Amino acid sequence: MLDGKRVLLIISGGIAAYKSLDLIRRLRERGVRVRCVLTKGGAQFVTPLSVAALSEEKVYTDLFSLTDESEMGHIRLSREADLVVVAPASADILAKMAAGIADDLATTALLATDKPVLVAPTMNVMMWAHPATQANIATLESRGVMRVGPGAGNLACGEVGSGRLAEVPEIVAAIEEFLLSGPGAVPSAAGPLSGRRALVTSGPTWEAIDPVRYIANRSSGKQGHAIAGALARLGAETVLVSGPTNLADPAGVSVVRIESAREMHEACFAALPVDVAVCAAAVADWRVARAADQKMKKDGSGPPQLELAENPDILASLSRAGEKRPRLVVGFAAETENVVEHARAKLARKGCDWIVANDVSPATGTFGGADNTVHLIGGNGTENWPKLSKEAVAERLAARIAEHFKGAA
Ligand code: CTP
Repeated sequence: MLDGKRVLLIISGGIAAYKSLDLIRRLRERGVRVRCVLTKGGAQFVTPLSVAALSEEKVYTDLFSLTDESEMGHIRLSREADLVVVAPASADILAKMAAGIADDLATTALLATDKPVLVAPTMNVMMWAHPATQANIATLESRGVMRVGPGAGNLACGEVGSGRLAEVPEIVAAIEEFLLSGPGAVPSAAGPLSGRRALVTSGPTWEAIDPVRYIANRSSGKQGHAIAGALARLGAETVLVSGPTNLADPAGVSVVRIESAREMHEACFAALPVDVAVCAAAVADWRVARAADQKMKKDGSGPPQLELAENPDILASLSRAGEKRPRLVVGFAAETENVVEHARAKLARKGCDWIVANDVSPATGTFGGADNTVHLIGGNGTENWPKLSKEAVAERLAARIAEHFKGAA
């Protein structure tokens, strides 16, 4: 299915560069054309000859090679691909990408490209955790750069922790998912979900205390927005009901903006009928029973007592909507301990079909962060997914949803 797709693979310096040879083989087996750029650092770990032999293409190594420049300029090189992959991506190349430095062929191609970019970082655990690297990653991701890994484990430097290059099959899966339906791909009228309608909730809700104050939570909306985008790319007509976020509207999705849980509930029911509903919003469980019409003033009698009232449970009410019930209802469970067990209980309590359980204990950095480690609990038992970017979680979930509807009327 990937026949004729083109990847520009940039191999930067790192002990894991040898794995890029296996990556090239796996991609070639799938019919992908792989053209490689080897940085100076990368060439310390793998030879241009082995890269050329496996990719069956010329390898590009030096920006200032006049012959290469006349045969194939760096701009053409960077644009004649469906996807640019940086694997392994060292701390150094990520920093250069974030800063827009173009001092060799690889970084020049990365700056000149108009194609989507996927990075597979690898480095020492301290280097990965360093605020500079984390800031660079956040900058790159805010510009739409996709990421796979790093994983945790024994590192080549002898330390243990996060920083391992994602395993080759994981990188291949991310490339495959992208090439078949990835971000930036035009929402597909002929995708596996074409003719289906999808509803996604995302973001926090704001519950008014008075006209200027509200109760809220730290949800960024990244996961829900990514799911809406992924479903749209597979062809679903997608409505995203979102609380306040700083995110751009995903391409090809109709966005309904709301503030409170009650507004979200109403907007969701107004969007029915749908085939699938994914409730990824962090809905406030409670609202202030009687929000004040005017700003509450300090009148000297001490702090006000706020009485709370329960909000509608949108996931539970969609799951129990009788004839209007979407055929597949997917919820999220944010847990900090006994993740799978608690999520199973939640699935039963809410009456949904699948639940995506994620560990949101503070150490994981899930809230507001770029990654998610989730378990998909549903009809076929529990699937434990590796740590993935929220974009990759969305792609996988959308693919599972498409599989679920495959062949169904
Ligand atoms: N949900 C909803 N409406 C609510 C509350 C939650 O639709 N009023 C949905 C969320 O979108 C999510 C799931 O229900 O899909 C989460 O359920 P919830 O009971 O809120 O679980 P947690 O946030 O995990 O909290 P708790 O463990 O306290 O139950």
